[in-house]
Amino acid sequence: MNTLNFNISYETYADIDELSETDQMLCNKAKAALASSHSPYSKFKVGTAILLGDGQVVLGSNQENVAYPSGLCAERVALFTIGANYPDAVIQSMAITAQTENFKIENPVTSCGACLQVMAEYEKRQNQPIDVLFYCIDGQIMKVKGIKSLLPFVFVEDRLGG
Ligand code: THU
Repeated sequence: MNTLNFNISYETYADIDELSETDQMLCNKAKAALASSHSPYSKFKVGTAILLGDGQVVLGSNQENVAYPSGLCAERVALFTIGANYPDAVIQSMAITAQTENFKIENPVTSCGACLQVMAEYEKRQNQPIDVLFYCIDGQIMKVKGIKSLLPFVFVEDRLGG
């Protein structure tokens, strides 16, 4: 029997002012994207902003549905928007934030597994790492360089045997 370990590194920032100007801009845009969240069921708003290679920023927010599984997370709303509208774009980085009236969010909200899998797909497609910022409005910011650090055992297409 062997026990193996992953060594995953990520950065934390105590305040948004500690980030680069670009990262600050992206976090602020993710916060602005909260306004379009359609989340009457969970009352949990998620906003994301994605920076493309040409400087364009694409926003996304969670879109819920009365038939609960029909809704979609903010990250996938934005990523699929890019896939459909800017298929040749390179994704540089993305920022994600969350807000709810029900409690104070004290730590960065990290993305669900399905969103990580979709991020991994886009990263693989462009063969360039995507930086991800998890922005806690009333707390710290976590920055991860590349999706592999978030999903080390990612499902990769070569397992399909093609
Ligand atoms: N949600 C996201 O938008 N992103 C995630 O990575 C996890 C969860 C949304 C889905 C749902 O609208 C609400 O947060 C509560 O789960």
